[in-house]
Amino acid sequence: WLVLGLVLLAAYVLGATPTGYWAGKLLKDIDIRQYGSKSTGATNVLRILGRGPAIAVLLIDIFKGVAAIALTRYVYSLPNIAALPLPSGLPLGTWLPWAVMLSGLMSIVAHSKSMWIGFKGGKSAATALGVLFALSWQVGLGVATVFLLMLALFRIVSLGSIAGAISASLWMIALRQPLPFLLLAIAGGIYVLITHRANIQRLLAGTEPKVGQKHL
Ligand code: G3P
Repeated sequence: WLVLGLVLLAAYVLGATPTGYWAGKLLKDIDIRQYGSKSTGATNVLRILGRGPAIAVLLIDIFKGVAAIALTRYVYSLPNIAALPLPSGLPLGTWLPWAVMLSGLMSIVAHSKSMWIGFKGGKSAATALGVLFALSWQVGLGVATVFLLMLALFRIVSLGSIAGAISASLWMIALRQPLPFLLLAIAGGIYVLITHRANIQRLLAGTEPKVGQKHL
C-alpha cells in the first residue's frame, strides 16, 4: 500500500502542475481562470494568450499523463519492489496494470482539481490523451485521430475532446487491451465528459465557439 500510495501521490503532483495558470501569470500577469471558459487548458490558453503558449501548454499537459504512467511502470518494475511478496502470495509486480489504471486516473483528475490553484484546472483531455499514449500508442493514435477529425470537420475543440473521450474505450476493446486499461478508458472518458458539461450545454444551444473565436 505504501508503494501504491507514493506512486499515486506522484501521479497527483504531476497531473496537478498548473501549466496553463503559470502561462497566464508569466506572460500577461493574469489569472486565466477568470477569462474565457475559465479553464487552464490549452484551448483557453489559445483563446487568451495565443498559439505559442497554447502549444507549449498542450505538450506539457500531455507529457504529465505520460510521465505518471512511466513513473508507475518504472517503480513497479524495480527488481526489489516487483518481487515484494503480498499477503495474497503474488509478487507486487503482478499488480502493475492495476496500479497503472489508478495512477492514470489520478493524474487525469489532478489536472482539473489542482491543489495549487484552489482545486481548479483544465478539463483533463490533454492529460488523458498522454495517459492513453503511454498505455498503448495505438490507442493514443486512434483517439488523437478521432479528435483531429472532429476538429477539422467542425472547428470546435470541445467536440473533438468529447468524441475522443467516448472513442477511447472503443479503441481499447478493438485493440484488445487488458481489462484495467479498458476500465481506465471508461472512467477517464466519463470524467472528461463531466468536465465538459458546460461545453455540452453550449454545443446543444449552438453557442460553443469555434477555433479562432475569442468569446464564449
Ligand atoms: O480540452 C478542453 C477543450 O475540449 C475545451 O476547452 O476552453 O473551450 O472549454 P474550452
